Amino acid sequence: MPNLATTFLDLPLNNPLMNASGVWCSVGSQLEALQESEAGAMVTKSCTLQPRDGNPEPRYRVLNGDKPWGSINSMGLPNEGFAYYLRYTERHDYESKPLFISISGLTLDDNLAMIDSLKDAVTPAILEINLSCPNVPGKAQLGYDFDAMDTLLAEVTSGYGQRALGVKLPPYFDIAHFDEAAAILNRYPSVAFVTCINSIGNALAIDIDSESVIIKPKDGFGGLGGDYVLPTALANVNAFYRRCPEKAIIGCGGVKSGQEAFMHILAGATLVQMGTALYEEGPSIFGRVKAELSEIMEKKGYSSLSQFHGKLKTL
Ligand code: FUM
Repeated sequence: MPNLATTFLDLPLNNPLMNASGVWCSVGSQLEALQESEAGAMVTKSCTLQPRDGNPEPRYRVLNGDKPWGSINSMGLPNEGFAYYLRYTERHDYESKPLFISISGLTLDDNLAMIDSLKDAVTPAILEINLSCPNVPGKAQLGYDFDAMDTLLAEVTSGYGQRALGVKLPPYFDIAHFDEAAAILNRYPSVAFVTCINSIGNALAIDIDSESVIIKPKDGFGGLGGDYVLPTALANVNAFYRRCPEKAIIGCGGVKSGQEAFMHILAGATLVQMGTALYEEGPSIFGRVKAELSEIMEKKGYSSLSQFHGKLKTL
């Protein structure tokens, strides 16, 4: 039986699967369901300093043509506010799985205020800073503004006392942008991990019958997830795996079975997140994908993840 155990920032995990921030992690009951599930780790909804209602509904739609290809969302960071998730970090069972707390301050000062509280917190929750929410009207994604990203990383890494943290990035589509983003990240050794990718921002899905957009916020523009984004996600995972050898990569995008989980790990991901598929199937997905990953490994003769992690072949 292949062994799916892994480590992340020296923490042991039973397996590399976890939720994508935003899915099944907004309130205590969902977080408890993840805790009870077969996920190897879990992350909270990206939070702001104050609670937010987010964008008007409908704000998430699965895209069902002849075949489901993914989802579009413009949630707008609905969340219970930083203090709520900080309190959850105090009651999480860290023996069973690591917990990441994701923050997405609306300003640098908000991020610094949250980081300041986390620095003094006694919980071992791992900090992820989301630099890539595409859905807050009037707020650009920080990951696309390299100067602002550099400034933020300088402030937050020093504000966090050089403790290990990670960033969630938007997808990049140009080799020059992979190079530039990686060069900035590599200036900050305490940025210990990189989550690739957030949704492909500002896509537009159209219903041909009603001749209408299908989500309400931003005139229908929203972040794309699911099958549509798998190749972009794999490219970003592999690009940052190659360019940031001292950092761990968390893969996110297009994972719905053991096959895509295997591909993310082959491309260089240490952990693999699920968003759209988890949203549609619920936390029982972790048991299924774990079993499928194990079966693929067994067929290929791999007994551990390290035997194929990052070992993508080129032609
Ligand atoms: O709209 C949202 O809440 C999405 C957040 C994200 O993609 O990071």
